[in-house]
Formats: sequence, C-alpha cells, structure tokens
Amino acid sequence: MGAPVNRSPQTYRVKSFGCQMNVYDGERMAELLSAQGLAPAEGEDADLVVLNTCHIREKAAEKVYSDIGRLRREDGTRPLVAVAGCVAQAEGAEIYRRTRDVDIVVGPQAYHRLPELVDAAARGSRPLDTDMPPVSKFDALPARARQVRASAFLTVQEGCDKFCTYCVVPYTRGAEVSRSWNAIMDEAKALVDAGAREITLLGQNVNAWSYDGRHLHDLIEELAKLPGLARIRYTTSHPNDMRDGLIAAHRDIPKLMPFLHLPVQSGSDRILKAMNRSHTSASYLAILDRVRDARPDIAISGDYIVGFPGETDADFEATLEIVRRIGHSMAFSFKYSPRPGTPAATMAEQIAPEVMDERLQRLQALIVEQQIAFNQRLVGRRTEVLLERPGKYPGQLIGKSPWLQSIVVDGGAVGELIEVDIVAAGPNSLTGVMSDRLAA
Ligand code: SAH
Ligand code: SF4
Ligand code: F3S
Repeated sequence: MGAPVNRSPQTYRVKSFGCQMNVYDGERMAELLSAQGLAPAEGEDADLVVLNTCHIREKAAEKVYSDIGRLRREDGTRPLVAVAGCVAQAEGAEIYRRTRDVDIVVGPQAYHRLPELVDAAARGSRPLDTDMPPVSKFDALPARARQVRASAFLTVQEGCDKFCTYCVVPYTRGAEVSRSWNAIMDEAKALVDAGAREITLLGQNVNAWSYDGRHLHDLIEELAKLPGLARIRYTTSHPNDMRDGLIAAHRDIPKLMPFLHLPVQSGSDRILKAMNRSHTSASYLAILDRVRDARPDIAISGDYIVGFPGETDADFEATLEIVRRIGHSMAFSFKYSPRPGTPAATMAEQIAPEVMDERLQRLQALIVEQQIAFNQRLVGRRTEVLLERPGKYPGQLIGKSPWLQSIVVDGGAVGELIEVDIVAAGPNSLTGVMSDRLAA
C-alpha cells in the first residue's frame, strides 16, 4: 500500500544527482515551479520532491530507489514524488512498476511540462512524459531567476551522436541539438543581470555547438563582450570537435579561462576503438600540443574508464602512460559499469571487479599525485579568485582560480573577483591571502 500523500503541494525541493547539465536542469525546474507559485521548501521537508536522476553508472541509477524510500516521513506519509532526469528517460514506466512511491516520471527533454504533470498527479493519475518533442523545452521555460549564483551554468548544446559503446547519454538525452545564438545570448545577459560573473557553457559535446555556420569560439567571442561577465568556461568537449578556432580562442580571449576538460577515456588504441571513441591516443596528444601552444598554462582535466571489456594489463598500462604524458590538473576516473542497451554491456571478456578495483586505485593514486603537483606550483604566486560561496568558518569564502582550483580565503564577499597570494596547497584546495582587491 502507498503512503498518504499531500496532493496539493505548496512547497518543493529539487535534488540533482548528475552532471552539470543535470544541475542546470534542476535549476530550471526550480525556477519553473517558483513561477507556478510554489515556494522552495525551507528545510528538508517539502510537499513536492523532484529527484533529478543520473543513469550514467549502475550505482547512480540504483540509488534512486533508496532515495525514494527515504522520503517517507516518520508519520507514514510522504511528499508528492517526481522522478526526473536520465533514469526517468531510460526506465520510464518501469519506475511505476518498481515502486508505489512515485507520482510523476518526466524525462530531461520534457520537464517544461512539469506544472501540468503535477496537476495530473494531484488528481491521482501517474503521468509519464519521456517525449523528445520537436519544440524545445527551452522555448517553454520561464525567464531565468532574478538572482543567480556568481558562477552560473548555461546549456547551449544537448544530446550526443557519438555513441561510445559504454554510454547511455545518446539514449537518455537524444540527438545532438544546438540552441540558437539569440536564445543563448539572451539567457547569458539575463544571468549577468542577475549577478553571474562567470558562465560555464554546457553541452554533452559542447564544442560541437554550431548554429547558422557559427561555432563555439564565435559564441565565446561574443559573450566576452558582455561588460559584467568576467569569466567564460565550457564543458564537456570531445576531442574530435576541437576546432582551430576554439584552440585559438584560448590564446586570444582573456575572459576564456585556461581550463580544458577533454576526456580521453583510455590510453590504449585497441580499447579506444572498442569504445568507438574515433580518436587515438596519439591524435589526442596532438590536440593537446596545439592547445598548449596556444595557452601554455592551460589546466587539463579528463575522464577515464578502467575495466572496459577486454582491457588487459597492457591496455591499462597504456592508460597510466597517457596520464603521465598529459599531466592533469585534475581528472575523474570510473570503473566501467555495464549499462542496459549499450553495445559494451554484452561484449565478451567483462573484467572482474577485483581487477577493476586494483586498476582504479592505481590510476587514482597517479591522478592525485598530479593534482597535488599542479596545486603546489601555485604556492607563493599571486592569482585571481572569483569568490563563489561562504566557507566553513565565519568570514571565510571559497572561490575558484582561473584553473578551477578551489581556493579558501579569509575575507571578501560572494561575487567578488579578488587577487590572493597562495600560501598553501593540498590535493583538493588551496589557501589564499587577500592582496589588493581588483577593480570589479
Ligand atoms: N559527454 C562527455 C561526458 C559523458 S559522461 C564525454 O564525452 O566525455 C561522463 C563520464 O562518465 C564519461 O566521460 C565517462 O568517463 C564516464 N562514463 C560514461 N559511461 C560510463 C560507464 N558505462 N561506466 C563507467 N563510466 C562511464
Ligand atoms: Fe557518452 Fe561518448 Fe557521447 Fe560523451 S561522447 S556523451 S561518453 S556517447
Ligand atoms: Fe547522468 Fe544524464 Fe548527465 S546520465 S551524467 S545526468 S546526461
């Protein structure tokens, strides 16, 4: 039996579990619900809870069901529950079969219809909307909120046509679509007016953005003209879409931050082929050479998968080798997780969990070493920090360096761009002391 539910929600909470685009979607859903007259819940408890889910690895996807269970209150009631995001897209009606405790299932391309779905759920039906409608959700969403964080996300491109053999994103997000120049510029201006000093352009393959013959670097160049905007970033890029213009932008546009997240996934050409990555370790390194020629101090981030089906010790050694050659400022690494419906899930030679564990540990140890080395290089130097949020202690703030390192500073205010002298560095953050404040 289902628990009693409050079917006329006054307050809401959106919890996002996935990538930056998933976080962006969460913000847009919150703005949409606010525009409908619902209030963001003050504490943990809300009348409507939106779980904005991620399907990229099994662990993330399975976690949804325990999260749903935890929404039950001590008195046996529960909020109205919406499952949004990529699990909603991938599992659809299956979610209703697995649990009684969900009232709405809505995919990443349909969430502009959330208000109607809440109404339908309030009437007791269990609506399912995983359409990928031809009319973009962006055209139906309300304007951006009047107040946003100092560092804001802006989705410019969505979906993926690359079909890496391990990945669910082409199925959960659909085909590659670029938003229009004007829609992006309008949203960027709204974000800057609302207090954003930094904008991170988002896309599953953000550097594949193109509209009317224009490419991502043209967009960055235009955004750099916005007076209130101090910093521009973009993520995630695919090696095959790394155009000359974008590389040159790293040399020519000071507001474009010296940071590039460019996943290579593996250092073994055999595995890259099986992954359908359509680049080799050598072609990847050649791109990095050009990027570093344009911007010698650029920080390189990446993603790695260990234990892809068929990965031998030699393949894994090749991954360690490419990491050594790249020299990351940071990088993410994951154990391969077989995803339903993807080609790799049914490949022979799935790798044993113990082998994956051991490889992941070795890879992560190397990455942490590189991260510490990268951070240490800044000790004793002066750098610019955008203060983004309060720190743990009173008066303390946390911001980001141009290279995306977290910097803890005593003083300043959120939204300020200040100069600090770096006095200490650990694997995950640096300590800065305020020098002169920069003119805003
Ligand atoms: N569009 C981006 C990011 C996609 S998801 C890109 O092309 O790089 C983020 C990362 O999750 C991927 O880069 C990959 O390293 C990892 N990932 C994707 N599917 C995975 C799977 N089935 N198992 C383990 N890691 C996976
Ligand atoms: Fe997934 Fe590959 Fe597309 Fe990235 S490029 S989203 S890893 S299919
Ligand atoms: Fe996860 Fe979907 Fe992003 S699967 S990583 S939330 S695109």
